[in-house]
Amino acid sequence: MSSTTDASTGRATIAARTLRTDRWWLPPLATFVAFVAWVAYATVRAFMQNHYFVPEYGYLTPFYSPCVSTGCVEEASHFGRFLPDVWWLPYAAVSLPFLLLFRLTCYYYRKAYYRAFWLSPPACAVAEPHRRYTGETRFPLILQNAHRYFFYIAGIITLINAYDAVLAFAKPGGGFGLGLGNIILVVNVVLLFGYTLSCHSCRSAVGGRLNHFSKHPVRYKLWTQVSKLNTRHNQFAWATLVSLAVTDFYVMAVSAGWISDLRIVG
Ligand code: FES
Repeated sequence: MSSTTDASTGRATIAARTLRTDRWWLPPLATFVAFVAWVAYATVRAFMQNHYFVPEYGYLTPFYSPCVSTGCVEEASHFGRFLPDVWWLPYAAVSLPFLLLFRLTCYYYRKAYYRAFWLSPPACAVAEPHRRYTGETRFPLILQNAHRYFFYIAGIITLINAYDAVLAFAKPGGGFGLGLGNIILVVNVVLLFGYTLSCHSCRSAVGGRLNHFSKHPVRYKLWTQVSKLNTRHNQFAWATLVSLAVTDFYVMAVSAGWISDLRIVG
């Protein structure tokens, strides 16, 4: 180890926090602002318990899916109503905690919030303010290893979102209907599948622990496709934050009567 390196920490012995002169603080700052804004919006919406469903067109916002509270309207409850209707319990309380944990433990989001919130470190070649670094080897960060289990649960919830989007093509009075809301719901579901299937745990699930790809051609094929998606995982992570907020806002706006759904058929 050279004399310019601290033997105990392995870090360069320079007084300056960083020698970088570019605007390295901009990406973590932008991430911080975007995450805080999104979480604030999602929290308000999850507890609003209103304007989550458009009965004329069957649009259900993903923030309330599956709608399983006794406060849910019957047409929006495709999986029964069994949770008590109290103000502190979101109508989709069976799915929201798992979706939160899925994103919180996501490999990409970890990088983003370790940089933007914990400054650990905030950017490459910028020293972190913490004196000790234990990585994800201790509680609570060791729980990040549970990500693969949240992946399976999130996969089921994505299928439920897809089911909601398909049901919305059937008009409550009978017949087929198509509006801008249907297109928004479908685009959101496609992006959610992109995010879920591009997950690192998905890549491991389909192609991991194999010694010979040649003996497992189907899994190899799947692994190849998931690997391609995986290179865009961070893009899906951001795209789904946008699509979830846009979908929810559109459903709220139509449900509240602020705007009319743009109808194409029916
Ligand atoms: Fe991002 Fe699994 S969802 S790595």
